[in-house]
Amino acid sequence: MTSPLFDSVPGFDQPIAVLKHCHDKIRKQLTTLQNLLGHLAQHGNTADAQQAARAVLQYFNKAAHLHHDDEEQDLMPMLQATATGEDAALLATLVPEILADHQRMDQAWLTLRPELDAIAAGTGTQLSADGVRDYVAAYQAHMAKEESQLAPMAKRLFSAQQMEQLGTAMQRRRGIAPEETAAPAASAVPVHDAATLAAMRIDYVQRLLSEEDVQRDPIAQFEKWFDEALKSQVSEPNAMSLSTVSPDGKPSSRIVLIKQFDERGFTWYTNYNSDKGQQLEHNPHAALLFFWRELERQVRIEGTVVKTTAAESDEYFNVRPLQSRLSAIASQQSTPIASRAALESNYEAVAAALGDAQPPRPAHWGGYRLQPERIEFWQGRRSRFHDRIVFTRGADGQWSMQRLQP
Ligand SMILES: Cc1cc2nc3c(=O)[nH]c(=O)nc-3n(C[C@H](O)[C@H](O)[C@H](O)COP(=O)(O)O)c2cc1C
Repeated sequence: MTSPLFDSVPGFDQPIAVLKHCHDKIRKQLTTLQNLLGHLAQHGNTADAQQAARAVLQYFNKAAHLHHDDEEQDLMPMLQATATGEDAALLATLVPEILADHQRMDQAWLTLRPELDAIAAGTGTQLSADGVRDYVAAYQAHMAKEESQLAPMAKRLFSAQQMEQLGTAMQRRRGIAPEETAAPAASAVPVHDAATLAAMRIDYVQRLLSEEDVQRDPIAQFEKWFDEALKSQVSEPNAMSLSTVSPDGKPSSRIVLIKQFDERGFTWYTNYNSDKGQQLEHNPHAALLFFWRELERQVRIEGTVVKTTAAESDEYFNVRPLQSRLSAIASQQSTPIASRAALESNYEAVAAALGDAQPPRPAHWGGYRLQPERIEFWQGRRSRFHDRIVFTRGADGQWSMQRLQP
C-alpha cells in the first residue's frame, strides 16, 4: 500500500472523517494558542502575536461552533435514534457529558476572547495562562472522548443512507449546497424549497449579555451597543424598522433612519402626511427594531410617538443635502403617481421655482420622537439559548430591568 503524499481533506460523503479533520484543526489552533502565550511573555505583542490571535479568534468564533452543532443537532440525535442495548446505555451517559463539555468550553472561550480581541487589535498583551491551560485541557479530553467512543459507534451503526444524511446536514450548515444525486436538475430546484429554508440556521456564538454588564439606564445601554455597532462596521447601523398601526388595528412596518437619541427618545424624520404619519395621528403607539446582524444583536423599543418641535425639524432639514430637501418638497410620500417621469418632473418644477433660494422646510415634513416605555436588548447565544434583558418604565418614570426566557 502506498502512503499519501499529502494530507487530503475528506469530503462530506465521509462525515465522520470530516469531524475528525475538524478535531485536527482544533488541535492546531490550540497549539497556536499555547505558543501565543509563550510568545507574549518573551516578545510582547508583536505583529506575529496579532496574526496568531486573529487565527485563533477566527477559528473558535465560528468553525468550532459549527462543529459542535454537527454533533448536537445531527450526530448525537441520529445515534440516539439508532442505538440499542449497550450502545444506548453508553449514549445515555455520554450525550449529557458532551453537551456539558460544550457549555463549559463556550464559557471558557468567552473569558479568553476579549483578551484575544485586544491582542489582535494591538491594544492588549494580557492572556490568562490559567484560562489557556483549562481551555486546552478541556478540549483535549473532550475530543479524545468523542474519538474513542462516539465516532467508532457511528461508523459501526450508521447505514450508508444515514452517513449521507449526516454529511448533507453538515454541508447545509456551512452553506454548501449538497450535490443532487438524482433528477430533478439543480436549476429546477427552487432555492427556497422547504428543506433548504428549514436547514437555514445560524448559531449565535459571539457574545453574551449579563445583568452585571448591562448599564442600569437603557438609553446608556443603547448608546453602548450603538457605538459598538458603529465600530464593528455593521451595515447601516442607524436603519431601524418602524411599526405603526392603522385605525382599524392593522400593523405595518418600514425602515427609517434614526437621527438622534437621548433620554427623551429616538428620533427620525419623514413626511407627516405619509401612511405612517396618518397612522401615528390616529394611534401614537409604535415600535422600533434594530437588527445588528454582525453582532448577533437585536434591540426592540416600544412607546408613544410625538412630533419634534418645529425648531428641531428646521435645524435638521437645513443640514440635509439640497437634493434631499428638494425631494422632501416634491414628493407626496405614500400617494400614487402615474410614472417615474411624472415624479421627476415634479422635482424639476420645485427646483426651477426655487432658483438659487434655499428651500424652506415644508410644513408636512418633520421629525417624530418615540418616547420609550419598553426597551429590550437581545443577544444571540448558542443553540437558541439567547440572552434577553428588558427595561420597562414605571409610572414614576423609573426603569426596571428583567431577564426574559429566550
Ligand atoms: C435604509 C432605508 C432608510 C430609509 N429611511 C427613511 C427615513 O429616514 N424616512 C422616511 O420617511 N423613509 C425612509 N425610508 C423609506 C421608508 O421605508 C418608506 O418607504 C417610506 O417612509 C414610506 O412609508 P409609509 O408609506 O409607510 O409611510 C427608508 C428606507 C430604507 C430602506
